[in-house]
Amino acid sequence: MKTALVTGGSRGIGRAIVETLSKDGYHVIINYANNESAAKETLRAVSGKGELLCFDVSNREKTVEALANWASANPNEYIEVLVNNAGIRNDNLLWWMENEQWDKVIDTNLNSFYNVTKPLLKDMLSHKSGRIVNIVSLSGVKGLPGQTNYSAAKGGVIAATKALAQEIGRKNITVNAVAPGFIHTDMTSGLPEAELRKMIPLGRFGNADEVASLVSFLASGKAAYITGQVININGGLY
Ligand SMILES: NC(=O)c1ccc[n+]([C@@H]2O[C@H](COP(=O)([O-])OP(=O)(O)OC[C@H]3O[C@@H](n4cnc5c(N)ncnc54)[C@H](OP(=O)(O)O)[C@@H]3O)[C@@H](O)[C@H]2O)c1
Repeated sequence: MKTALVTGGSRGIGRAIVETLSKDGYHVIINYANNESAAKETLRAVSGKGELLCFDVSNREKTVEALANWASANPNEYIEVLVNNAGIRNDNLLWWMENEQWDKVIDTNLNSFYNVTKPLLKDMLSHKSGRIVNIVSLSGVKGLPGQTNYSAAKGGVIAATKALAQEIGRKNITVNAVAPGFIHTDMTSGLPEAELRKMIPLGRFGNADEVASLVSFLASGKAAYITGQVININGGLY
């Protein structure tokens, strides 16, 4: 059975991706940082056909250590599908932004891409097979006021997606980014939905399952010739 890792797989979009990849037949490693009960619930939702791996993606040392421990405990397996999904937002206008708000958002959304992806590349390269899907955001495509930290982080991951796709395409590894607009999760629960809906051509927020279906496609053999792309899933909102 092939193995997939979903960072931030315990809640929201990540949880939907875990459930979908599990239905696709993957053994799914569900990463989370804090909320163990949500992670356990997600594991139950896939009928225990997966495993939990707790580490903070913004902490390079702990991330490398957790992935190395997993590899030594599973010498005959490798992570063939990586979904870099874990993320946070902490909005503020730039002139009011605290250093900590900037650093935490960049560390969790952008540096995490480096922390998680680099240790997994060696195995993908030696097996000449891999799929990397980075969950970015409309905010990283167009920039959103009040989110310079988040827009910078997601925009950085978009650029890294395009660069890495060119580095490793010859090894049959694809790297793509998925850029959601407004999706119903804890992250968007405090937003003024009725107001925001008016700007969205499809007139509604998206569901995590809809994002998961796109990730499932990009992880599959059907998407073998797609790499270095940013696929928007935003109800027509730009
Ligand atoms: N919802 C939207 O409208 C939307 C739109 C565009 C892009 N996105 C992106 O989609 C991704 C998922 O968002 P979401 O809405 O599903 O968020 P969410 O509901 O807040 O869930 C976030 C997930 O990430 C995990 N996480 C947070 N910080 C982490 C860390 N340092 N290390 C490991 N795991 C961590 C959380 O685990 P714990 O609970 O254990 O911390 C949780 O599983 C994010 O990258 C987000 O930026 C979301």
